[in-house]
Amino acid sequence: TLPHGVVSLGDHEGHARGVLDANAWAYFAGGAADEITLRANQAAWSDLKLHPRILRRVAGGHTRVPLLGRTLTHPILLAPVAYQRMAHPDGEMATACAASAQEAGLVLSTQASLPLETIADAVRDDVGRGPLWFQLYLQHDRGFNLELIRRAEAAGYEALVLTVDAPCNGARDRERQAGFRLPPGISAVNLSRLPPLPETALQPGQSALFDGLLRHAPTWDDIAWLLAQTRLPVLLKGIMDEDDALEAARLRVGGLIVSNHGGRTLDTLPPTAEVLPAIVDAVGNSLPVLVDGGIRRGTDVLKAMALGARAVLIGRPYIYGLANAGALGVAHVIRLLRDELEIAMALSGCTTLDRIPPRLLRR
Ligand code: FNR
Repeated sequence: TLPHGVVSLGDHEGHARGVLDANAWAYFAGGAADEITLRANQAAWSDLKLHPRILRRVAGGHTRVPLLGRTLTHPILLAPVAYQRMAHPDGEMATACAASAQEAGLVLSTQASLPLETIADAVRDDVGRGPLWFQLYLQHDRGFNLELIRRAEAAGYEALVLTVDAPCNGARDRERQAGFRLPPGISAVNLSRLPPLPETALQPGQSALFDGLLRHAPTWDDIAWLLAQTRLPVLLKGIMDEDDALEAARLRVGGLIVSNHGGRTLDTLPPTAEVLPAIVDAVGNSLPVLVDGGIRRGTDVLKAMALGARAVLIGRPYIYGLANAGALGVAHVIRLLRDELEIAMALSGCTTLDRIPPRLLRR
C-alpha cells in the first residue's frame, strides 16, 4: 500500500530515503562529482516563473500530444533507469505495468535487470498504454549490437533511444563513498551474451580510458550505421548543444532528448531547462524534442512544454515510487504528476499543450 501522507514526488523521495539501503540510495539518488548539475536541473525549473492570464475558457482542455505517429494521453514518459530490481524485487516489471495503467510511455534501459522480452510481453497488448521504447547503449561488438536491436524489434519496441552522453561513467563520488556494488543476483541480463571487451595491454604512458574503453565509444559514423540497420525511429538522448542537434536532424533521426543524464555524467553541465529553447529553435518543427532532468512538479512539465518540448521524461521520482510501493508506487507518481499538470494548465489558462502562450514564461 502507499505510505501515508505521501502526496507529491518530493514526498516519495523523502520516504524512499528510509526504504532504500545506503548502497541503493547512493546509486539512485547520486549524481556526478559535486552534483552541481544534479541540483541545477531541479532549480532551473523552479526558477522559471509563470505569468498566466485569468478568466479564460478552459473547459474541454486536455493533455494530449502527438508523438511519432501516435497520440499520447499525456506527455509524461518514464526515462530509462538501470537495475530496477535494486529498488524493488518486481523491478522493471512493476514499472512497465504501472506505466501501462497510467498511459505513460516507457523507455526500457539496456541495463535493465529483467529480460527485454519479459517486459514487452507483459504490456504489449494492453489497451491504452503509452509508447514502449528501448534504450540502447552501443557496445564494443557490432554483431552483438545488431542482435540486441533485432531482439528489441521482435519484442515489439516501437523506437530506439540511443544514449549518446555516457561513453564512460561520470566521476561518481557518492557511489565510491558508499562503496557501491550491485547486489548478488542483479545484473544487466540483456547483456549476458556480450563477448568480453578485448584485452589490450596498456603501454607505459597509455590511459586505461582513452586507450581502452573509449576505443569502442560510438561516434557520428555509428549513428549513420544504426539508422541503416533499423526501420524503427531512433531518438538521440543526451543532446545539450544546438549544433549537435542540427547534425542529428541532418542525419534524420526520429527525435531528440535534451538531457544531461540527470546530472550523472559530466558535472557542471548546464541544467536542461537552460539549453532547451536554443535546441528547439535550432531544429524547428523538423523533429520532436523531448527533455528530462529535475522534473518534479506539474508546473515543471508545463514549463518544459512552454519552452518547446513535445514531452518530458522522469527518472528518479518513479524509482522512489517503485521503492515505496512497487507498481502501485510508480502508478501513484505518474498520477500525481498528471493531476498537477492539469491543475497547472487550468490555473494558467492553457487548454492544450500545443498552444501555450509564450508570455506564460516571459522574463
Ligand atoms: C539513469 N539514466 C539512464 N539513462 C540511460 O539512457 N540509460 C540508463 O541505463 C540510465 N540509468 C540511470 C540510472 C539511474 C539510477 C538514474 C538516476 C538515471 C538517466 C535517466 O534516463 C534520465 O536521463 C535522468 O534520470 C533524468 O533526470 P531525473 O528525472 O532523474 O532528475
